[in-house]
Amino acid sequence: MEHFLSHLLDPSRLHPAIVHFPIALFTASLFFDLLSLLLNRHDFRKTAFHLLALGVLSAIAAIGAGLMAAETADAPEDILTIHSRLAVATTVLFALLLGWRAKTGNFSSPRLFPVYLVAAVIGAVMILTVGFWGGHMVFEEGAGVRPDLLHRNHQEEMLPEPDFGAKPSVPSPSGHDHGKGDGHQHAH
Ligand code: HEM
Repeated sequence: MEHFLSHLLDPSRLHPAIVHFPIALFTASLFFDLLSLLLNRHDFRKTAFHLLALGVLSAIAAIGAGLMAAETADAPEDILTIHSRLAVATTVLFALLLGWRAKTGNFSSPRLFPVYLVAAVIGAVMILTVGFWGGHMVFEEGAGVRPDLLHRNHQEEMLPEPDFGAKPSVPSPSGHDHGKGDGHQHAH
């Protein structure tokens, strides 16, 4: 519990806890918009609007937490630049789309709704790409991972593979085993 709380209060640990929200909320908003078209349910468009608003709020929080994480994560510069710039661009795009929705009364006249949907699909691809590069930094480059754990993984890589195909050792008449690679020699 103490460990959990200290992690939660560590600003550099906030980013991974928040990032799932914008990714899920933006894609869920698009999902409900598409469903509203397919099932002809106008009320689903209201749900999509609320999900989009929450998505923008959580994306702003994710950007703030990302800036803090970048201070300590030891992330590769080039990938971090792509990740963070794309994250900001995606958030701006969805914030503009939210403003557009609000201005048009959530597309009370559906004439331009298909144009909105194309932009939202592009935005969804963008936020998934942001997530992809974020995951790449952590799981492929070890950004934000405790250095001692990275070191341990590296050491495990250096250990020889266990030889499961080795013949079972047969006890010798002299009373002790001669397993494969036993290494020592003596006269029988
Ligand atoms: C909408 C905004 C953003 C989203 C959705 C997002 C998403 C992600 C995701 C999914 C990860 C992998 C986390 C994990 O698997 O543990 C990640 C890692 C990371 N992101 Fe972001 N990110 C956003 C904005 C930013 C910004 C603006 C910065 C920096 C200026 C940033 C810096 C980092 C860093 C340093 C990591 C690796 C260390 C860590 O996970 O704390 N991110 N991000």
